[in-house]
Amino acid sequence: MIVLVVGSGAREHALVLSLAADPEVDAVVAAPGNPGIELVADCEPLADPCDPEAVVALAQRLRADLVVIGPEAPLVAGVADALRLAGIPCFGPSAAAARLEGSKSFAKEVMAAAGVPTALAHVCTTRAEVEDALDALGAPHVVKDDGLAAGKGVVVTDSREAALAHADACLARPGGTVVIEEYLDGPEVSVFCLCDGTTVLALAPSQDFKRVGDGDTGPNTGGMGAYSPLDWLPAGFADLVVERVAQPVVDEMRRRGTPYVGVLYVGLAVTSQGPRVIEFNARFGDPDSQVVLARLRTGLGVLLRAAATGRLEEFGALHWSRSAAVNVVLAAQGYPSAPVVGDPIGGLDELVEEGAVTVLHAGTRRLPSGELVSSGGRVLNILALGDDLAAARGAAYEAVARVGLRGSHYRTDIARSATPG
Ligand code: AMP
Ligand code: GLY
Repeated sequence: MIVLVVGSGAREHALVLSLAADPEVDAVVAAPGNPGIELVADCEPLADPCDPEAVVALAQRLRADLVVIGPEAPLVAGVADALRLAGIPCFGPSAAAARLEGSKSFAKEVMAAAGVPTALAHVCTTRAEVEDALDALGAPHVVKDDGLAAGKGVVVTDSREAALAHADACLARPGGTVVIEEYLDGPEVSVFCLCDGTTVLALAPSQDFKRVGDGDTGPNTGGMGAYSPLDWLPAGFADLVVERVAQPVVDEMRRRGTPYVGVLYVGLAVTSQGPRVIEFNARFGDPDSQVVLARLRTGLGVLLRAAATGRLEEFGALHWSRSAAVNVVLAAQGYPSAPVVGDPIGGLDELVEEGAVTVLHAGTRRLPSGELVSSGGRVLNILALGDDLAAARGAAYEAVARVGLRGSHYRTDIARSATPG
């Protein structure tokens, strides 16, 4: 099987590594890929991953048996629709189904129709509606831009002023709509549910750390690190998420004539009243899927092809490594507000050679001189496996400290509270 992976981040780097490790996969090609992926797979230029014709043409030229779409933007742009129309199996939802991520108000509407537990929400299009909703729900305030905002559309704050300021900014956009939500208390968990339109298969839960600073301080980011497994969760948690959330949503989407094929990322708060949905994404999480994929022993190629072709039902239980995985994100100076790019990155060759950790590239670029420089806010992921979380943490943090990047920073508490001792 020949697999084409669309995307250029650390999530796609992890997808490529897992796909390449599947004996059923003969070749993995990434487009556009990144300097880390180039070391392990062929990369093809792709000027615009959101251009459906360009992706179809590339998949046809490569004779790809499966296309895996990493990020959300191509999904919302209809790249999966175009591939299916051309008869190419694609792991990733149609534009209509990807609205579960692309529009927060649509996701809320589907959840209500499917009876899925989530935060109370008010969809507002005027300042007055926003003020009423903030009064009705009280602090802490949760204010979400309705559209795709690359993880930056949400403000959680005790300040009514800050809440209003963010709502005003969202409303000022053309067609501006803002969702004001009830605050959900409790630890956050990500459950990636593979869907083939009918059947749902959950991967092992993971936890992501969204705020930039230790102790969950500072602004929200795309995610600063993750770990798996989550031994503190009640037994059968992932099954409960399938039963209460993913299966009802997949059934509802099929009923509407927009079947969901791909991964439904269910972001939950584990509250005293049980799991409640914080958000859906139409793609694998980044950096959280990296720790899950690192532990998956079932071949990823066969699994994603089964999802893309309506045959997930044929799968029994998935196989998992007993190891624990910890992923620490190394971010550029100034991330998330104003990341500094173009700085040289040192120390990676030794880490790769020693092999104690996996170095995933998130925001890097190779200059014509061969030098590797930073090119984004999140620059690298240092991913480690260990017999337990303490061992994995130890290995990841020992390695991340050895990366040379001026002004870079990382959280020091990834998986700490889940690690005994
Ligand atoms: P989202 O883009 O919807 O995932 O929101 C980004 C982050 O904001 C989440 O990962 C949570 O940490 C936080 N958040 C979003 N919605 C809520 C909520 N209803 N209650 C508490 N925190 C939330
Ligand atoms: N890690 C959060 C996300 O991928 O949206």
